[in-house]
Order: sequence, then C-alpha cells, then structure tokens
Amino acid sequence: MKRNSKFPDLTSVKAPLSEASFLPSEYYGNDMHFLREKTTILQRNWIVVGRWEQVENTGDYFTIDLFEEPIVIVRDQNNTVKALSNVCRHRAAAVAQGSGNTKHFVCPYHQWNYKLSGEFNGAPAMERATDFTKEECGLDEFPVMEWQGFIFVNLSKTAKPLDLTEVDDYIRPFHLSELKRLEPIRYDCPWDWKISSENVMEFYHYPGVHAKTVGGLFDINNSIDAEYEDSLLAVGGENLYALGRGKPYIFAMQASQNSLITPGIPAFEVPESLANKQVGVHVFPNISLIITPNFTVWPHFIIDNANSHRLEYNILVHPDLADKPEFSGIREYFREMIQAIHDEDMPVLKQVAKGLKSANHTPGRLSHLELVIWLFHTWMLEELG
Ligand code: FES
Ligand SMILES: [Fe+2]
Repeated sequence: MKRNSKFPDLTSVKAPLSEASFLPSEYYGNDMHFLREKTTILQRNWIVVGRWEQVENTGDYFTIDLFEEPIVIVRDQNNTVKALSNVCRHRAAAVAQGSGNTKHFVCPYHQWNYKLSGEFNGAPAMERATDFTKEECGLDEFPVMEWQGFIFVNLSKTAKPLDLTEVDDYIRPFHLSELKRLEPIRYDCPWDWKISSENVMEFYHYPGVHAKTVGGLFDINNSIDAEYEDSLLAVGGENLYALGRGKPYIFAMQASQNSLITPGIPAFEVPESLANKQVGVHVFPNISLIITPNFTVWPHFIIDNANSHRLEYNILVHPDLADKPEFSGIREYFREMIQAIHDEDMPVLKQVAKGLKSANHTPGRLSHLELVIWLFHTWMLEELG
C-alpha cells in the first residue's frame, strides 16, 4: 500500500499476529487522523494525568494540558481529587499555573475567584451585571478515577470507571499505590505519541538498541514459540503474556536471567517467583508501566497534537527510598540508569518519525515479540470505528 493511497487497507493490521502488518503511516503524524483519534479515542477514554502524591494535601494542585485542553488537578476542601477546566469562565485565561498549594484559584487576568472545588467564589466589579448567576460561573469539571495511585481523567464526562481488578490480581505484590515518584526525566518529542508508546510496549528492540545497558538481561530467543488464542495470550519459554484480545489493558511479563532485586535498598518484598520478572502493564491508550521488584518505570506520554508530545520518565519507588536522605545516591543511580536506557531510544524514535513520513514506506510485518503492539493496534481500530 502506498502512502498516498486515499483509503489505507487495514485487513493486514486486523489479521492474526502471524500474518499481521503495522498500522499504515497515515496514522502517524497526520493532523486529519489525529483529529479523529482525539474525538474517538483520546477524549473518550481514561487518560492518566499524574500520581496521588502530587495532590497529597488539601489545596495541592498541578496543571496539565490534555490534547490542548487545559486541566487543573486539585485536592479540594472535602479531600476529593478533582479535575477542573483550567479555563476561566470570564474570558478564558488559565486560573492556575504550574503546580503548588493554594486556598483558592484567582484568575490573574481580572481576578475572578474560584473555590478548590471549582465553584465560583466572587469577582470584582460585577455588581452592575444584571442576572449574573454565580452558580453558573463555576469551573467545568471532568470525571476522575484513581487506580494504584495513578490519577485518570476522562474528557467525555459520561465515562464509566475502568474495571482493572483483573490487572490488580497480578500486580498486588508490587504495592504500586504506595510507591512515590522521583523527579521525572523529561523529553520533548516532536513526533506522534504512538511512536514512543509502541516503543515501550515491546522488548524486541532490546538486544540492538539497548546492547550497552539492559539488552543482555533478557533472552528474547527464550520466547520463540508464540501461541495465542482469544482469551489467553502466551509466548513460550519463561515469558508469559496474559489477558486477552479485545480488552483495554494488557499484562505482560518477561523473565531476566538473574534476580532483579538490589539488596539493601527499601523495596516491598515480592515472592521468589517474581524476583527476576519485569512486568509490563499497558492500559490503553496512554498508560504503560514497567514494573520490577526495585522500582516501577512509568513513561508518561503527555499528548499535544499529531506531531508533539512530552515524555516524562517517572521512576516510582518505595516511600523510604523516595524520602530518606541516606538513599540519595541510590536515587541518583536509578535516574542515571533510566536516563541512559532512554537516551538510547530517543535517536531511533526520531528516525522512525522521519521514516514514517517517507512516500516510499509501506507497513512492515510484526514479530511475535510485538504482540502488545498488535493488540494496541487492533484495540485502536475498534475504537476508531
Ligand atoms: S479571564 Fe479570568 S478574570 Fe477575566
Ligand atoms: Fe527501549
């Protein structure tokens, strides 16, 4: 299929994994497609925005733009985490900037004032405005869901909470909800967010891209016998993929040659069977977690538009490791290690973004090690309708 064909053929994307090809390049870095993706996927599904510890106390808040929709996340006076529109009801300035702690939000433009719950709380020089109804001047609000310490927002306003109890059963030993995040490592990525997201979903690229860091930890040839069926997906050897096709989440596990536990650092104790496991959890569309016994890596894709997202690599650790001064060396070591790994990814992702704009590109075939990407693509096509 050529890049300039008007209607990409999706038959091969929907085919069984052993026959499947990647999404056509029209789905990447394309403003028209992004608009469709935004209205059918991004604005209708639960999008991760942050962690509980960012709004631990009453009045704590942080701002985030979701596909250019300004949002402020805040813990209000009733101890409830809220997602409010960060757009003033007067003339649309932002009522909150960055992050911090406040008693109320005061718009910097003309000083309209809002409670932490978003209710209107007063405005100067409005007494001559007739029929000015304060109750109608509160900040807009979006549904919020908390899962394992992560805060999700849904822009559709009619969303049902995601049921992730099946995933909880697998990851309970890692105590994710109690972990705390270290200062993230930030990258500006001028390309389609799916390029970055798909990269963290597969470990096919580990031996090549990560040869100098973690490439040798995982033996990808230990999983050459791929088998899958609708309800359970399994890749042979010691690697196991579980949870089936058609679900909005994936649980994947890969085994290292050795234990991944670093002795002497604060971490929740995991059963022996998980000591050498790296667990991938992907809740579509935009949360991916790489969970190990020492720490969890959460690459947060903050999506702007078809050709821009910010990638924040968060490292979540045991609260003692996050807070105690004596572990500052370990914290720095973890950050440097994660940064080294992802500095290896970045140049390749840049090349992929460029290659996908080539007029000569046709979608390639998938390896069985790209199972999660295949599930992501088939899920996405269902959502696009
Ligand atoms: S825009 Fe906020 S007070 Fe005028
Ligand atoms: Fe990578």
